[in-house]
Amino acid sequence: SKPWTVPALAQAKRNGQKLVMLTAYDAGFARAFDANGVDLILIGDSLGMVVQGHDSTLPVTVADIAYHTTAVARVLQRALLVADLPFGADATPERALEASLQLLRAGAEMVKIEGAGFKLDVIRYLVEREIPVCSHLGLTPQSVLTLGGFKVQGRGEAAERLRADARAVAEAGAALLVLECVPSPLAAQVTADVAIPTIGIGAGAGCDGQVLVMHDFLGLDSGHRRPKFVKDFLAEGGSVAGAVRAYADAVRAGTFPDAEHAYAS
Ligand code: KIV
Ligand code: NA
Repeated sequence: SKPWTVPALAQAKRNGQKLVMLTAYDAGFARAFDANGVDLILIGDSLGMVVQGHDSTLPVTVADIAYHTTAVARVLQRALLVADLPFGADATPERALEASLQLLRAGAEMVKIEGAGFKLDVIRYLVEREIPVCSHLGLTPQSVLTLGGFKVQGRGEAAERLRADARAVAEAGAALLVLECVPSPLAAQVTADVAIPTIGIGAGAGCDGQVLVMHDFLGLDSGHRRPKFVKDFLAEGGSVAGAVRAYADAVRAGTFPDAEHAYAS
């Protein structure tokens, strides 16, 4: 069995051990990430953008996520495998259960759900049925139509709302919490508020771990405006394996993200 399990994540937070996460969509990259110190692999619905070429994550289906999950699951020796529930798949607890079972059958060990609100019932429903859940708050890309774009979240009065949502998803049973595009001080505060590990992306070094989309981390031009938090680790590491080691070392040392790759407020 693999060293990374769901209980091991909570223990890592208690030990002050930083968690290193990357997205992956195929066996080749997943093997390289797994062999060079990545703790968690995410089959992100970002695949709609970086693999399929869409402008958002909205067109991605459960079958798409399952396909990539299957390929990645075959090669992981170490890393825990998390898979996104795509847009609509978590609209009701029953639909979320069906989708999650499909992803677990494909090899996922945890499913990720964007948002709080009515999703709290979905999280509770899955956790009660022994399906580990990762929550995702802050900028939730599946909300792009109602948000009107990809923007920093949790500024001003929205900060207390985000803190309350974070406590609520932890209370509902989430085992992990991704915080995307929120001011660093708020992400640090949320990290102190909850016992579950927080994984930041554009959320500063005060989180319990970090995640990046692999294409961003390898310096590929996404065709979209490059977010501030993106860093090209291939330039630094010189090879894919070197990039992973440079990223993992920087996350564990707390030197990534630095102020240049985070939102101060
Ligand atoms: O889909 C994805 O890649 C994600 C990460 C950005 C956290 O959800
Ligand atoms: Na996602």
